[in-house]
Amino acid sequence: MNVLVVGSGGREFAIVKKIRENKKVDNLYVLPGNAGMDGMATCVPIGAKDLDAIVEFAKTHPVDFAVVAPDDPLVLGLVDRLEEQGIPCFGPRANAAILEGSKVFSKGLMKQYGIPTAAYEVYDNPADALEYAGRAPYPLVIKADGLALGKGVVIAKDYAEAQAAIHSMMEDHVFGKSGDRIVMEEFLTGPEVSVLSFTDGKTIVPMVSSMDHKRALDNDEGLNTGGMGTVAPNPYYTPQVARECMERIFLPTIRAMSREGRPFKGCLYFGLMLTPDGPKVIEYNCRFGDPETQVVLPLLDTDLLEIMMAVREERLDRMDIRWKNESACCVILASDGYPGPYKTGYPIRTESGISSDVIYAGVKRGEDGMLITSGGRVLGVVRTAPTLDEAIQGAYEDVKKVHFENAYCRHDIGKRALLAGRG
Ligand code: AMP
Ligand code: GLY
Repeated sequence: MNVLVVGSGGREFAIVKKIRENKKVDNLYVLPGNAGMDGMATCVPIGAKDLDAIVEFAKTHPVDFAVVAPDDPLVLGLVDRLEEQGIPCFGPRANAAILEGSKVFSKGLMKQYGIPTAAYEVYDNPADALEYAGRAPYPLVIKADGLALGKGVVIAKDYAEAQAAIHSMMEDHVFGKSGDRIVMEEFLTGPEVSVLSFTDGKTIVPMVSSMDHKRALDNDEGLNTGGMGTVAPNPYYTPQVARECMERIFLPTIRAMSREGRPFKGCLYFGLMLTPDGPKVIEYNCRFGDPETQVVLPLLDTDLLEIMMAVREERLDRMDIRWKNESACCVILASDGYPGPYKTGYPIRTESGISSDVIYAGVKRGEDGMLITSGGRVLGVVRTAPTLDEAIQGAYEDVKKVHFENAYCRHDIGKRALLAGRG
């Protein structure tokens, strides 16, 4: 069969690598993919937001099954468009992808159905928002309603910072229409856990839990990034926490979406905080996380494409999904400066004798055919091992064997997770 994956980053690399394990796959196309995927899949230079071109490509090749990985095309309705043409897809339709596409929607859903989350207010004009900021408790969390490349959250420690955030989102429109409405919410504390799940709208099967490291610098300092590294499983996510999340968050969410006439089919990502009052939802994403996918999928011991097709056909309840009893660590090598301005175009050299997987993201081919850097997050070094300790050590040993000018990584990926595991 011919399979199409939409997207281009490390997450898509990890998905492509896993789908490749299915022997029924003849042609695997990635739109647009990245040069690191050469040999695994056919990359076609069509952008993930170019819906017309993607649909045309899928019709003409023809594609038997499509996986839409990034948030933008999901929210724009690519799955609806492909399904209209009779092409089965893994991923939510636009009316369900709104769970990530609009924070006002997702907060409203959680409130209506009693799903635990931070208390909040919604504002659609700056004067009222500022008035609220003048009497709200601090720190105050301010979020743009719509998609904002993962940058739409500001944690304001005082009124001046809140004022600046409201001004830039609502008046300077730094996130375009995404900031026309904002959510202001209570600041929560506690360890964060990412739980990706497979769901067909009726059944939900959580994947192995993981922990992201969003800040650019060691000790969770510096700016928020797309994610500088991950570990799985997340030791804070104990079996008891998992049960509580299933009862109070996961099942209520998919049932609420179905009740609203928006059945969610695909990968639903729960960004959770384990607060002193129990687990609460920080955010929903309508897709696999990046770089969570890079540590979760290597631990999957069941064929990914089979699961994805079961989700599409609403027979997830009959799938036996197994996980390896191992741990994984992903350390992102980024271009120094990311998430601010950075230089690219440097050749990447990998020493032989690497035991980890190198998962490429922001790379392209240079004139001499060598892989060169082309983005902020360049690649991830992913190691799986029997224990978390060994996975982390192994990943860091191999990080030293991948070279490019300007490379930067955090040095403490998994450190907190190890402490939790020991505590
Ligand atoms: P997001 O872009 O929604 O993933 O948010 C980025 C980060 O902001 C999260 O990973 C949290 O660390 C933090 N954050 C978001 N909402 C809250 C909240 N209500 N309280 C504390 N931290 C938050
Ligand atoms: N790593 C966080 C995300 O994918 O949104």
